[in-house]
Amino acid sequence: MTSITKAACIGGGVIGGAWAARFLLGGIDVAMYDPHPDAQRIVGEVIANAERAYAMLTMAPLPSKGQLTFCATLEEAVDGADWIQESVPERLDLKRGVLTQIDAAAHPEALIGSSTSGIMPTELQRDMKHPERMFVAHPYNPVYLLPLAELVGGERTSKETLELAKARLAPIGMKGVILKKEIEAFVGDRLLEAVWREGLWLIHDDICDTETLDDVIRYSFGMRWAQMGLFETYRIAGGEAGMRHFLAQFGPCLSWPWTKLTDVVDLDDALVDKIAGQSDAQSGARGIRDLERIRDENLVGIMQALKAGDGGKGWGAGKILAEFEQHLWAKGGGAKAAPDIAAPLRLVDTRVSAAWVDYNGHMTEHRYLQVFGDTSDALLRLIGVDFAYVEAGHSYYTVETHIRHLGEAKLGQSLYATLQILSCDEKRIRFFSTIHDAATGKALATAEQLMLHVDSKAGKSVSAPADVLSRLTPIAQAHAELPVPDGAGRSVGQR
Ligand SMILES: NC(=O)c1ccc[n+]([C@@H]2O[C@H](COP(=O)([O-])OP(=O)(O)OC[C@H]3O[C@@H](n4cnc5c(N)ncnc54)[C@H](O)[C@@H]3O)[C@@H](O)[C@H]2O)c1
Repeated sequence: MTSITKAACIGGGVIGGAWAARFLLGGIDVAMYDPHPDAQRIVGEVIANAERAYAMLTMAPLPSKGQLTFCATLEEAVDGADWIQESVPERLDLKRGVLTQIDAAAHPEALIGSSTSGIMPTELQRDMKHPERMFVAHPYNPVYLLPLAELVGGERTSKETLELAKARLAPIGMKGVILKKEIEAFVGDRLLEAVWREGLWLIHDDICDTETLDDVIRYSFGMRWAQMGLFETYRIAGGEAGMRHFLAQFGPCLSWPWTKLTDVVDLDDALVDKIAGQSDAQSGARGIRDLERIRDENLVGIMQALKAGDGGKGWGAGKILAEFEQHLWAKGGGAKAAPDIAAPLRLVDTRVSAAWVDYNGHMTEHRYLQVFGDTSDALLRLIGVDFAYVEAGHSYYTVETHIRHLGEAKLGQSLYATLQILSCDEKRIRFFSTIHDAATGKALATAEQLMLHVDSKAGKSVSAPADVLSRLTPIAQAHAELPVPDGAGRSVGQR
């Protein structure tokens, strides 16, 4: 994958701060320029939220966080950067001026993305000397979690620039989607404006209040959109006859029409007061950072659920997350210092995410198994059983598990897991893992498991190859010197 080595963020508000968080947590150094006196505080708060979200999002080894530098001038910030992201307020004259200033100071090869929500890139690049490397990279808030950037070129943007931008976003977990033509507001904001416009009319006409409108979205098609978008959803709605039938059935209503999409609602004081009042009643009890944290927890939960979609291959944004994690494992998974084999191996450090908690407020049962599974996966990587090994047709399968629950893990609690090999031969590994509270080291759960080495295509167990055994055996020999852990070999219900 093509990587960004240094990013510059020009403008550090809602969007610029979240771009910075995406880069930093992807291991990229960021130079920020924003003249606002509170910029450092605001960006710091966004990054704190992003770090909290990433701790819940993935167990994959994130790279060491990049370094954030606040610069006194734009020129200082763009110096040496190979990705520059402009996120200043949405005014053509301001953006044009800033982009021209970036163009003059940046390395000619550096890519320059604008976060604009709707201005055409041809307009933005008008005064630039190297316009071929300038494009729109329109993200969605929070940029550090939502993977999409709409990539839009202007008349003078080169095709290679858009392809390169797409390639550079992938290693930081983003999905660049290249639009075929530039258009004001691109694809996402065109669609959102239609919903927004209609929503304003529904409030204006007293059909419902803001809370009811939001409920209609989040209890129904909002959930469908998150995983299948519009056309795939409607294909299913057409039943076995599919999309043609759907178009024939619902197409004619478009000419009635149901909506007021072409009318512009007058956002006069009365309507602004009405919407703001209803919104205060709906959500005013919580502060913005609080709402952001709830949003992030929900988004993490949705992305994790989608990662399990399509039989575990990942679906929609969950597929992007799965690909991001594969990239992280490939980069960082094996690179850590070899663990001390004279003690149980500490293989996983994690935190209880919101999506892991049940109605008791504790980590739900199957998440213990997930952490134990991540622990045994980490052992496998250590002995050379990685993605490439599995793709080539061999793996270890878990054939037996006995979990004991000894304590409670609560939302946000930091945990780590250790693993001790009890015995092994050419086909089998029997091992004992323990989930600990990171603050006290106290054991919260243990699992004794047996894995079999398999030829996954033939569907039968076979001996592991010599190179895998040569990595496994020294660990097993060292662990044979350790005391047998309390609870090993125990059957269910035994005192
Ligand atoms: N807020 C969203 O949900 C969203 C989503 C996608 C895209 N965008 C786009 O992102 C851009 C920024 O929007 P925002 O919501 O972050 O706005 P914002 O007002 O929160 O932040 C803009 C920042 O730019 C800074 N700034 C102003 N002039 C500057 C200059 N000359 N040089 C450097 N910094 C300067 C301001 O101090 C401020 O911190 C806009 O183009 C907007 O359309 C916003």
